[in-house]
Amino acid sequence: MTSPLLPPERSAIIGEPGRVERGTSSDGLVVSGVGKTFRSRDGATSALADVSFTVPRGRFFTIIGPSGSGKSTLLRIVAGLLEADQGDVVIFGESGRNASANKQVGFVPQSPALLPWRTVLENVRLPLQVNRKASERRDAPSRSPEEILSTMGLGDVLDKRPAQLSGGMQQRVAIARAFAFDPAILLMDEPFSSLDELTRELLRHQLLDLWESDHKTVLFVTHSVTEAVVLSDMIVVMSAQPGRVQALVPVSLPRPRGELVELTDEFHAIERQVRLELRSAWGERSDGGGS
Ligand SMILES: Nc1ncnc2c1ncn2[C@@H]1O[C@H](COP(=O)(O)OP(=O)(O)O)[C@@H](O)[C@H]1O
Ligand SMILES: [Mg+2]
Repeated sequence: MTSPLLPPERSAIIGEPGRVERGTSSDGLVVSGVGKTFRSRDGATSALADVSFTVPRGRFFTIIGPSGSGKSTLLRIVAGLLEADQGDVVIFGESGRNASANKQVGFVPQSPALLPWRTVLENVRLPLQVNRKASERRDAPSRSPEEILSTMGLGDVLDKRPAQLSGGMQQRVAIARAFAFDPAILLMDEPFSSLDELTRELLRHQLLDLWESDHKTVLFVTHSVTEAVVLSDMIVVMSAQPGRVQALVPVSLPRPRGELVELTDEFHAIERQVRLELRSAWGERSDGGGS
C-alpha cells in the first residue's frame, strides 16, 4: 500500500544492487573479492571472504551484521588501515591506500576520540589544519566548520570543551569533524552504538539533515535494522564467519526522510526484509546481535 506521506514521484532511484565492476569504476567505492584471515599462534580466524559491492558516488550504503561478521575489518581495509589478503578496494579510481594517503577517506569511529584540551570548534577545525597540504590539492570544503556544527545543533557550544558535553553531543562533534574535512568518502563504524535509544534517534535524523546538504558517499556500519533503513540507499547484509555478503537490500524510500517515514508501510516492509535476511544468515537472531 502506498502511504500518503510518500509521494511516489519522489522515490529514490537506486543503482543496480550488487553490480560489481572489478576495479574499473572511478566514480565511487568498488570493493571486489575482498578476503581477510587473521593468523596468530592460537590459529587462524577467517574474518572476510569474497566480499564485493559497489557504492556509487553520492549514495549512502549501510553494512549490517552481528558481532564478528567482519564489519570493522572491512571498514579498516577500505580506510587503508589494514591490508586485505585477497581482492581490492578502489576509491574514486585510486587504490584504498592511495586514497587514504591523499586524505580522501574520512573515518568516524565508535567512540568520538576528541582532544579534551581543545574546544568543540578547534576539534572540528583540527584535521583541516593538520592536513592543510592535502587540503590544498582539493577544492576547499563547501561548508565551514561553524555551518556544519550549527546543522548538528551545536551552534551554541563552539567554545565548550568535550568534557562539558554529553556523550551524544561529543559524537555529533566527531561526525561534524568528519564532514567538515569533506573527504570523498565517509566511513562510520557504529557511531551511535554507545548512545541511548532516544539520543540515537535524534542523531540519525541530524546525520540525515547533514547528509542531505551534500550527498556525500557514505559507508556506515550498524547492528540496528531501523537505523539502517532510515539512513540508507542500500543495505549490505553480512553473514559470518567468514563475513560474506548475504544480500543487498535496496531502500527506495523517498528523500529527504523525516521522522514520520518510520511509520509507513513501505518502511516496515523493508525492515522485515532485512530481518528475514539476517535470520536466514543467523538463525533466530533477527536483531543482528552485538557490535
Ligand atoms: N586484529 C585482529 N586479530 C585477530 N582477530 C581479529 C582481529 N580483528 C578482528 N578479528 C576477528 O575477526 C572477526 C571479525 O571481527 P570484526 O571485523 O571486528 O567484526 P565486527 O566489527 O563485525 O564485530 C572476529 O572473529 C574477530 O575476533
Ligand atoms: Mg565492529
